[in-house]
Formats: sequence, structure tokens, C-alpha cells
Amino acid sequence: MRIDVFTLFPEWFDWFRSQRHVRNAVELGSELRFFDYRETTPLSGRQVDDAPYGGGAGMVLRVDVVDAALRSAYERSGAPARVLLLAPSGRQFDEVLAGELAREPHVALLCGRYEGVDERVREHLATDAVSIGPYVLSGGELAAMVIADAVVRKLPGALGHAESPVEESFSEALGGAPEYPHYTRPATYRDWDVPEVLLSGDHERVRQWRLERSRERADR
Ligand code: ADE
Repeated sequence: MRIDVFTLFPEWFDWFRSQRHVRNAVELGSELRFFDYRETTPLSGRQVDDAPYGGGAGMVLRVDVVDAALRSAYERSGAPARVLLLAPSGRQFDEVLAGELAREPHVALLCGRYEGVDERVREHLATDAVSIGPYVLSGGELAAMVIADAVVRKLPGALGHAESPVEESFSEALGGAPEYPHYTRPATYRDWDVPEVLLSGDHERVRQWRLERSRERADR
């Protein structure tokens, strides 16, 4: 899989790309690329934004700047089928969308900055607008990292053990419900005991107990 991130701050992602599961995915053939809008802007002085028509505070990322970045990146390979604009007003990101994206061979994430992004980016250049939650971040970079993280960990081999993403929160195995609680040693700490069933060695009882706890959490 290839994930392309378009941003004004590619260095924000240095930490992200150095993380173990991301390095695993890259070593196994996935690609994570970063494109700086300023490197391909058609404007002089590395300008990327402008004052909003109609007035108001702040600056708006220009559509010609975003278009130039996309054209430069995809003039040979063709654009990906999914080009996501990160915006607080977009479709709420969730595990279903993470799964959808992980099945794509190629995805682009467009980070916005400043007061916003010219609406024509959403109308003509992006295929989706996606939000990671009902709050406003100072830009799309953290949202892009959240999305890339949720997608990359689904790629085969990204997490050391192939099974680990199968029975986790919101997975099909749990009927889309949150994951059941986990416990490890010590079995008693202060006076906090691990549920007896988990120490029983009875796999069927453990399975039932986990399903019940998962469903309980879904109802909360
Ligand atoms: N950019 C600013 N806020 C955002 C959010 N909540 N989700 C995605 N992109 C954003």
C-alpha cells in the first residue's frame, strides 16, 4: 500500500515514520511519502495561502497550490482512487473507514492549515472530506497521523503478531463492539483480583465471558 501525505509541515511526521509498526509496514513493501505544498507552489516566495474572499480573519490554503502539488506528484503514476481532505466538517473517521482505506492500494491525505482550505479543493480535487472528531485542530497533520496509524496497523505484518488486530475493538470478530478487558500478572494486586474465569483454563467460558464484556461496553 502507498500513503501520500500533502502538508506544509512534513517534518511533523519524522516521529511517526520512525515508529516500529510503520517501519515494519515500510520494510514489507508499503510506502509512506510526504509532499510539501511549498515545494511545488506556482506562486513566488513559496506562498501557499491567501486572504479569504468576503473578508474575515486568517488565511486560506489556495486551490491552485493544492492542485499543483497533486499534479506534480501524480503526473506519471496517476492519482489514487481515494484523496482525503482532512477537515473538521468531514465524515467522521472510524474503524470501518480505516478498513476501507487499508484495502486500497493507494491513498492521499491532504492536510489543511490556517483558517481553512479553499472549498474548491473539496469540490474538485478530493474524493472525501474526513474529520477525526468534532473539534478543531490547528491543521490536518495530527488527523493525517491518526488516520495513517489506524490504517497502517491493519496492513499484514505491521504488528508483530498477525492475529493481534483480528479480535480487537470494533473488529468483525467482536461484531463491531469495543474490545473486552485484558488482564495480566499479578493475579492479585493490592486487593484487586483478576476475574476468576480468566484463571480457569476453560477456553469456552473465557470466550463467552469476553463476548459478554465486549457487548456490555458496546451498550454503554
Ligand atoms: N483539521 C482541523 N481539525 C480537524 C479535525 N477535527 N479532523 C480532521 N482534520 C482537521
